[in-house]
Amino acid sequence: MCAPSSGDNVVLVGFMGAGKTTVAKELGPAGYDSVDLDDLIVRRCGRSIPEIFAEEGEPFFRDRETEALRSLLGVRRTVVATGGGIVGREENWTLMRRLGLIVYLHADWPLLQSRLAGGEGRPLADSSDWPRVEALWRSRIPLYERADAIIETGSGTPAEVASAILRKLSEGRRS
Ligand code: S3P
Repeated sequence: MCAPSSGDNVVLVGFMGAGKTTVAKELGPAGYDSVDLDDLIVRRCGRSIPEIFAEEGEPFFRDRETEALRSLLGVRRTVVATGGGIVGREENWTLMRRLGLIVYLHADWPLLQSRLAGGEGRPLADSSDWPRVEALWRSRIPLYERADAIIETGSGTPAEVASAILRKLSEGRRS
């Protein structure tokens, strides 16, 4: 296990629907601020994620994503909820490692699919083509598994997942 950076931050990675944003907020009572990277991009661009994808294309979005991540260097005691595709760029890994402990929130495909069904605002989670979304999930698993810690989110409540993250953080401090 890698020790967390001096900023004592947590970076949550995982596929769309894994609950990164919800879990990040759950760490508030433990004294952590939370930042959602997608929200940051939307605020800075003044457009929704689907608008950014449709009008500018995915590479533009990925550049904004890396920029937003870099802008967080220096935060302290913060949980960063990343977008599911953050793991696709090596540069993002360097930035995430500088930020803090990288935690992968794992969930199985049926659970992710049920959470994504009916949802809007995710250009890469097209419910008319589940095989494609599942293939994207599968292709990213080896990337998510590069995280410092993996937490199974299937059966736990967001509060339980948050407690598991706090345990990982204290293990990191001891190592
Ligand atoms: C994406 C995940 C989304 C968002 C964008 C692309 C992806 O974030 O960044 O739609 O490539 O998996 P969430 O994981 O928060 O849904």
